Amino acid sequence: MSWDDLEGAGVDASASEVDTRRFGFPVARVRVGRRSTDDEAVAGVLEAFERLRPDVLVARWPADRVRLAGALTRHGLEVLPADTLVYWEGDAAAASGDGADDVVPLAEAPHLAGAVGDLVAATFADYPTHYLASRAFRPDLVLAGYVDWARRTAGEHPEEVLLRLVDGAPAAVATTARVDGGRATEVLLAGTHPDHRGRGVYRALLTGVLGAACAAGSQRLVISTQASNTAVQRAWCGLGLRPVSAWTTVHLRRG
Ligand SMILES: CC(C)(COP(=O)(O)OP(=O)(O)OC[C@H]1O[C@@H](n2cnc3c(N)ncnc32)[C@H](O)[C@@H]1OP(=O)(O)O)[C@@H](O)C(=O)NCCC(=O)NCCS
Repeated sequence: MSWDDLEGAGVDASASEVDTRRFGFPVARVRVGRRSTDDEAVAGVLEAFERLRPDVLVARWPADRVRLAGALTRHGLEVLPADTLVYWEGDAAAASGDGADDVVPLAEAPHLAGAVGDLVAATFADYPTHYLASRAFRPDLVLAGYVDWARRTAGEHPEEVLLRLVDGAPAAVATTARVDGGRATEVLLAGTHPDHRGRGVYRALLTGVLGAACAAGSQRLVISTQASNTAVQRAWCGLGLRPVSAWTTVHLRRG
């Protein structure tokens, strides 16, 4: 769920065609906006079950809405905790650091496009994504989803994919998108191949991403991860980013 998806005020639900196709059963998503009440959120979720008939409804709401899970349970829904997503942001102009010279946009190195899928597959192989909260989402298909997403971005928007090279070969990757009406760049998928971790590769990658965002006219960089991913949040601290919001993810089913 991207920064822009989270920004709306009300309760917004839709079928997830990509997930439905991938996992072979109906999946829908709902985002509870900040300015809705818990009653409105419950009504929106129940309406989404009626209209979209999902097996699993992946729901996100601001993490301070601590009563909402109980309210949904009282309406007969099974509520499975999946993750807490934390968003951080930083000033795009604040980038400084070594190693960013070896960060290249895929658009300038099209011969590396084929490496993006394999890099994402290795980087996220054991990643504890929210999908794994429900046994219905097969882990191999979850990983395939991330790989397909990265390959699609590499094919369609190579200017939004940045690679950190080590000895000329891709060691870390970031996929990005312009959000907030072009005022910000969001990092969607990013990480370092396990063989290259612990050597400043990710720090250099993000320094390059910040530089590219600034050069493209973005004022801010926005990025998110699971609250449990303290390693990457330490890296963000080192780059001057700050936490800005937290979102609860749950999987809802009819009880
Ligand atoms: C988290 C991850 C991106 C770190 O990549 P990396 O190239 O090893 O990171 P770097 O060597 O550049 O380290 C930068 C900083 O991150 C933090 N960090 C990195 N790995 C860490 C670890 N295992 N434990 C604690 N802190 C860690 C440190 O603050 C480090 O700075 P320091 O070395 O000065 O202490 C990498 O482990 C990864 O790709 N993980 C899986 C995917 C992922 O989590 N992606 C990000 C969120 S979607």
